[in-house]
Amino acid sequence: MESIWFASCPIERRNPLDRDIKTDIAVIGAGMTGILTAYKLQKTGKSVVVLEANRIASGQTGKTTAKLTSQHGLFYHRMIQDWGEEKARLYAQANENAIEAYRGLVQEEQIDCDFETTDAYVYSQNAEMLKKEALAAQKLGICASFVPTPHFPIDAAGAVKFQNQAQFHPLKLIAPLAQKLTIYENTLVLSVDAHQIKTNRGTVWASKIIFACHYPFIIFPGMYFARMHQERSYVLALENADPPEGMWIGADEHSYSLRHWRNMLLFGGESHRTGKNRQGRRYQALRQKARELFPNSRETAAWSAQDCITPDHIPYIGSYAPSRPDWLIATGFQKWGMTTAMTAAEILCDQLCSKENPYADLFRPGRFSAQSIPGAAEEGAQAMRGLGKRFFQVPRETAETIPQGHGGVVWETGKKTGVLKDQSGKTFSVSPHCPHMGCQLEWNPDEQSWDCPCHGSRFDRQGNLLEGPAQTGISHS
Ligand code: FES
Repeated sequence: MESIWFASCPIERRNPLDRDIKTDIAVIGAGMTGILTAYKLQKTGKSVVVLEANRIASGQTGKTTAKLTSQHGLFYHRMIQDWGEEKARLYAQANENAIEAYRGLVQEEQIDCDFETTDAYVYSQNAEMLKKEALAAQKLGICASFVPTPHFPIDAAGAVKFQNQAQFHPLKLIAPLAQKLTIYENTLVLSVDAHQIKTNRGTVWASKIIFACHYPFIIFPGMYFARMHQERSYVLALENADPPEGMWIGADEHSYSLRHWRNMLLFGGESHRTGKNRQGRRYQALRQKARELFPNSRETAAWSAQDCITPDHIPYIGSYAPSRPDWLIATGFQKWGMTTAMTAAEILCDQLCSKENPYADLFRPGRFSAQSIPGAAEEGAQAMRGLGKRFFQVPRETAETIPQGHGGVVWETGKKTGVLKDQSGKTFSVSPHCPHMGCQLEWNPDEQSWDCPCHGSRFDRQGNLLEGPAQTGISHS
């Protein structure tokens, strides 16, 4: 399903790579991070090429709700406790600076991208938590306050307001920047070895390589698979919904995200770990809530997006791994991809220009933090469960018991098979094993896709790859 961003801003097509080339810097991924980083590096005089497996912004950039904010849920009170005030202040400043950098970029390049300065709110039923968060944010220099929510449609004890944040149209911003860059679309990276990038269209030799492809597909070194998982969430665009002023997000379980774009409300929620949506009905639940809160609204679009979550809730930006000094990475942006894309572009650009960056150490991918231990242990346990299910769990369903419009893993001709039965009763069979590291896939009825619970790869009903870290589709069974 297409987001309102794609529907309202077509982006000019670019040719695939058609020969072997050399460059100073190769950026893998033409989303917001890749484009901003390439744009900044090109301005320093370096030769940069961007390699994109699909289309520009076809990943999460085209599916975001496009909020620019340093307000990342109820984050700062906990961060001060876990990391100390100095690190929490750096995190806040990095994000506030990113908003300013977008503001400067829009002015400098005269980009008409519906950029709008507005306030951000996080709401909750827990007024105590909100007050603590407001105090923590104030201590770090953020213009924050606890406010009541009289005109907000969802029941809440109040909200924390951050002033002077922003929202925009991500594709309208990326399109003019992309025009200035050398970008090869439909150029899938197959492997990276030292300075050599092999694609399905030719080879690129680069002095430095930046992985800006959402979730890194290389297993060793780096082992990002052991340090991140992916979460999926769903969005409706609603007309005639009378959106509240500002951008909103809930801090409690089963809460929602709201912002307006033109006369529409973008209403999001129903988040879950990718590969853990056996029952489905996420869109259904979101629509039901939309009808309850905005009874006169009319849906104009619906789509979903995927976010990478790190165990300590800080993104990974910087050197890929000690054994690959010429590789850099930006990933694990949590639910704040657009703001963090700018932070990443600045850190990576400074690193490649041998400039100090005050935030580089905070986001360093090789950090070890005590805060990450429980999350990393859970990632390992989840991978074991995913593999265990593949090898030891006997399927309970059969092709006959799967209802029309649903899929499931069944035992067929002596092996496990993923079977989808469409509305006419016709079946499609695929191998239910993820090509990334072998976990058993789960059917996602909302997206009609096969999703991996281990690291979030996704495949369509025919087995074609939708999202990585896997690099290939799954075979027909
Ligand atoms: Fe890693 Fe599926 S995404 S095993």
